[in-house]
Amino acid sequence: MIKEKKIAVLGLGYVGLPLAVGLCSSYKIIGFDISLDRVSQLLKGIDKTLEVKETKLRRCLKTKLSITNNFRDLENCNIFIATVPTPITKKCTPDFKPLKDVCKTISRLLKKNDIVIFESTVYPGATEEICAPILEENVKNLKSGKDFFLGYSPERVNPGDRVHSIDKIDKVISGQNKKVEKVLFEIYSKLTKGKIFLAKNIKVAEASKVIENSQRDINIAFINEVAKICNKLQISIYDVLDASSTKWNFLKFQPGLVGGHCIGVDPYYLAHKSSKLKIDPIVILSGRKTNDEMPAFIAKRIDEKLKRKSKILFLGLTFKEDVPDLRNSKSLEIISFLQKKFHIIKHHDPYGKTNDLQLENLTKIKNNSFDALILAVPHKYYLKRMVFIKSLLKPNGIFFDIKGKVDVKRDENITYWTL
Ligand SMILES: NC(=O)c1ccc[n+]([C@@H]2O[C@H](COP(=O)([O-])OP(=O)(O)OC[C@H]3O[C@@H](n4cnc5c(N)ncnc54)[C@H](O)[C@@H]3O)[C@@H](O)[C@H]2O)c1
Repeated sequence: MIKEKKIAVLGLGYVGLPLAVGLCSSYKIIGFDISLDRVSQLLKGIDKTLEVKETKLRRCLKTKLSITNNFRDLENCNIFIATVPTPITKKCTPDFKPLKDVCKTISRLLKKNDIVIFESTVYPGATEEICAPILEENVKNLKSGKDFFLGYSPERVNPGDRVHSIDKIDKVISGQNKKVEKVLFEIYSKLTKGKIFLAKNIKVAEASKVIENSQRDINIAFINEVAKICNKLQISIYDVLDASSTKWNFLKFQPGLVGGHCIGVDPYYLAHKSSKLKIDPIVILSGRKTNDEMPAFIAKRIDEKLKRKSKILFLGLTFKEDVPDLRNSKSLEIISFLQKKFHIIKHHDPYGKTNDLQLENLTKIKNNSFDALILAVPHKYYLKRMVFIKSLLKPNGIFFDIKGKVDVKRDENITYWTL
């Protein structure tokens, strides 16, 4: 089918860049992105997602990886891997614009026998129903499944997680026929030492990914609901979880803020497809609702405990710990709620910078400056500096430790609050 593989990776974000770098030790890879900023930073060896180290990126750029924002540079490629975003609209329905755009780009380059692989998270059926017709648009007489072929391999990589990295995790693959499956098997075997699982077909592979993240969302929603119950009972959910998780089959999910580009988004793709199939996605959407209400719940609990116009240091803006990703971050919702209640908030994050918020230089803040500290995202950076951070609080100030990560001793003169 394909003798010499020339691979293009389209979309060089959290998923695409580590993929391009991972594959370039085995294949010649051309990475393509529409963002000029992203391309020019990557060409300088800078990855602002912090997923690929500068030395590694520079080494790849000197050998088998090239990066471009000119799609014509992909003309000689015969395998196209799309890793573009799949966000949602304001109405929480799938926004297929980036996926449709990348299909249009690929369609200008497609030749007979080429393979197009999608890694973006979608609902079951999207690759063949949405992508295939667009790919066929610009290539006269080439039909998907006959002249060019589709594959789907969902991405499971977890940014910031150095244990479950792209070179170790098991990978699900699928293709339109046995030959395509074989090509995907060869490619992804070079990427990971983990197992390669061949899904029955593309729809199964698509479904497998979207239910992984939806399941996680629903499990967290249950624990968030329990956290609200515990709050009324005046006990800590974390104390309850410590006790429950001594049972062998208890699933120890943590309560908290569900943001980011995946867990808070992907269930809407599944719910959308479910509604189209006339199955009311009650569980999926109630999980979403519960998790979406969590920032307001936490912000109200914090506000109840504070005097008017309290001085607050808010720590952690990114959507989760140890990543620079601000997408769909719930910290910003809590901040905005508390500002509306007239509290005076200073912000800090060692990774994420928003244009709207002025970040404080922690080291320049004087001791005893704040009535309250809110540790929203327990970056390792904060946990390592906890003695100093606690010293910023006035005597008897309140430490709101949303994720229950910090030990506060009785003699520390700090009022401690957690979920
Ligand atoms: N981030 C994660 O943790 C993660 C994990 C697993 C799966 N996924 C899925 O992988 C996909 C990509 O997510 P991401 O986090 O890497 O997104 P991202 O926003 O980090 O990166 C996407 C990149 O694609 C580029 N892009 C957008 N439209 C393009 C186009 N038409 N042509 C070429 N480039 C284009 C953007 O400029 C950006 O650099 C999504 O479907 C997501 O759900 C993400």
